[in-house]
Amino acid sequence: MKNKALFKLSKLFVFFLVTFLSFSQNNVTVLEIKTDIESPIISKHIYGHFAEHLGRCIYDGIYVGEDSKIPNTNGVRNDIILALKELKIPNLRWPGGCFADTYHWKDGIGPKENRPSMVNRWWGGVTEDNSFGTHDFLNLCEVLETEPYLAANVGSSTVKEFTEYIEYVSHKGGSPMADLRKENGREKPWNVSFWGVGNEMWGCGGNMTPEYYANLYRQYATFMTDWINSDKMFRIASGANVADYHWTEVLMRDIPKNLIEGVALHSYSFVTWDKKGSSTKFDEAQYFSTMQTALKMEELVTKHSEIMDKYDPKNKIALIVDEWGGWYDVEEGTNPGFLYQQNTMRDAMIAGTTLNIFNNHSARVKMANLAQTVNVLQAVILTEGEKMLLTPTYHIMKMYTAHHDAKLLPLTFESPSYRFNNESLPAISASASIDKNGSVHISLVNIDSKKENKVEIDITKLGVKNFSGTILTASKLQDHNTFDTPNKIKPVVFKTFENKKGKLEITIPPFSVVMMEGK
Ligand code: AHR
Repeated sequence: MKNKALFKLSKLFVFFLVTFLSFSQNNVTVLEIKTDIESPIISKHIYGHFAEHLGRCIYDGIYVGEDSKIPNTNGVRNDIILALKELKIPNLRWPGGCFADTYHWKDGIGPKENRPSMVNRWWGGVTEDNSFGTHDFLNLCEVLETEPYLAANVGSSTVKEFTEYIEYVSHKGGSPMADLRKENGREKPWNVSFWGVGNEMWGCGGNMTPEYYANLYRQYATFMTDWINSDKMFRIASGANVADYHWTEVLMRDIPKNLIEGVALHSYSFVTWDKKGSSTKFDEAQYFSTMQTALKMEELVTKHSEIMDKYDPKNKIALIVDEWGGWYDVEEGTNPGFLYQQNTMRDAMIAGTTLNIFNNHSARVKMANLAQTVNVLQAVILTEGEKMLLTPTYHIMKMYTAHHDAKLLPLTFESPSYRFNNESLPAISASASIDKNGSVHISLVNIDSKKENKVEIDITKLGVKNFSGTILTASKLQDHNTFDTPNKIKPVVFKTFENKKGKLEITIPPFSVVMMEGK
């Protein structure tokens, strides 16, 4: 009996030893692409952006005014228009953020010289002259061929103000608000589907309880009328802060399903909330902590989705992560209320892994908004006077356009660990899709700060043969683009892969993002 048990134990030991040795010899992670299961379309709206009246995002960022020396169209910088068009941004959230619940839309229409000013109480206490208003924003969305996502004021507004806003924007005519719009120079309505019913109602939106907000939401949503097309209105409830699952539970429980199309979620990545540290001068411990909070997104979307599954088993209501990204201390010498920070390869790691998480959860996650577009938090574009640069995050967003509206190809794999001190994180993050032309895209991120990682993918069932790759990498994690060296970090052709009789072997350098394309 004893001998038999010993024999079994030693067999087990040999098995584990062989497995361990073969893994460490080859050091290859096998990614299995599931082609035989139903999978969702990755909504392009996952790749949405967010522009708030905060710091230099709108003013002295996107909008410089018609009289500026900087080339512009109706006051919006031409170089920014071009860069955002190349990103194919699918939607743009505006005007906040916390600003949204202080914003009274009528202050931002009509002749600019007559518009009243206000104090931007959340962001630096600066005077807002309302020169960039609803017409400016919605016209910009048309130029960008992007869908507007209007976050409307609930915290300091009324149902009347809210419903008049919808009427102003989308009623064809023969209504007081549509007539006012026409007087202000816009004959036809704009096409606005996405409406946020307040922002962060648990905090800057009014410090409400979820029960109170759910009731308020019901009231507002009841009067929200889609004047263009009755089934296009997409109402988004202000969602939970990070792991506040109770918030999602109450909203899903108390809001009738015919009044809601989306529930939001906000989650940022940082070293610690109280000590965010510099955006460019960080050590490995700070990098590791930032990635811990970034990768937490996997657990967050899983758990919030589980709650939604319980109340919405037919998956009609979308989870919308309408604020995400890295948040550090502001750049030295800049206004602390302006949230201006640089953007390094650490941010590329946040972007690549987060977008992979969203893709893999695209059955429930239908939309997301990176915070923020220009000069604020994890911006895709930074400006200084006439100069403009594209950040590493911009390049990741551009590389990932390949996944827009493509069909998810679910992946299974056991990631090797990225170890730091006594902790570990999965080093590899990946997602894959097949687009309507049959091209396959696999986005791979290796967050390990020192070690390259090898992956192997069986591609025999994908119907594609020829692969090419693009990589975003740098020599240091802290590397970033500056106004003097704006092209230090940019995607280049990726070559360290081999197609060995239907097995794609890829070596991903440390802190790199690779996009493989198969045709
Ligand atoms: O994106 C910056 C701020 O972060 C937003 O205004 C607010 O919604 C969040 O707390």
